[in-house]
Amino acid sequence: MGLERMDRRYWDRLAPQYDEEILSSFDADLSGIIARRLDELAGPRKTALDFGCGVGKYLPPLAARFQRVLGVDHSEPLLAVARRDHGDLANVTLRTWDAGTGRAVPGPRRDVVVCANVLIMADAGLRDAILRSAIRSLAPKGRLLLVVPSLESALWAHRLLVHWYEREGSNDPESEAAEDGFPPSARTCRELLRGIVRIDGVPTRHYLAEDLRLLLHRSGLEVLHLDRVFYDWHSEFERPPRWMRDPFPWDWLAVAHRR
Ligand SMILES: C[S@@+](CC[C@H](N)C(=O)[O-])C[C@H]1O[C@@H](n2cnc3c(N)ncnc32)[C@H](O)[C@@H]1O
Repeated sequence: MGLERMDRRYWDRLAPQYDEEILSSFDADLSGIIARRLDELAGPRKTALDFGCGVGKYLPPLAARFQRVLGVDHSEPLLAVARRDHGDLANVTLRTWDAGTGRAVPGPRRDVVVCANVLIMADAGLRDAILRSAIRSLAPKGRLLLVVPSLESALWAHRLLVHWYEREGSNDPESEAAEDGFPPSARTCRELLRGIVRIDGVPTRHYLAEDLRLLLHRSGLEVLHLDRVFYDWHSEFERPPRWMRDPFPWDWLAVAHRR
């Protein structure tokens, strides 16, 4: 995949090969922390909003834990896959919604809003608008469950890649790893300082734990839990060596409510 912007057309084009390209955080979560946090938030009379639901990986676990679930996304082709795969879930509704407007999703506010790996585009204004839309869709005492890529984890993966080249006897492990990962240019450096890491050439926002805390605080929220969602090294490398074990790569998982 070449250099691309993460706009709606990007997501539309991904639909046919979504599973090969995009890790499902819920399914790949090694410790099951996402399921446990959802258990704590669940209730037979509670409602959930899967905000940027994509092909609907979170729909079955949400349908099992909440009375009603609405999944929204701006990509029709992704929603079509969600309808095909999960259209049988009686308490789930799917709707097209562009969160970039910053407005609340029409209808009643939800008890729980799940926003898993949606705030990942490089455009800061768009990310702010999407977060505003998610928070405005939340009931006054509701909870936001956010999953975002970790910048610490991306740097850790890069460090291990260098170590991997060292173990294989490379004369210049830093350069070999840089060719696979972040090319050492001034532009890359500037991007990195803004939390942008290119994944398959696509600029993708990653977050320091403190970044995420600050973002949520500035949005009027208080963080109740901040956890790591660990994944297998296959999520980073095609054929990770056997010595590559924990600490595994991770995303940040935050549960927050209004202050
Ligand atoms: C990495 S996928 C995550 C999908 C799903 N939340 C999951 O974790 O399996 C990001 C999703 O965000 C959606 N998205 C991005 N920008 C959006 C916007 N402005 N409005 C609605 N959905 C958006 C994309 O279409 C895509 O489905």
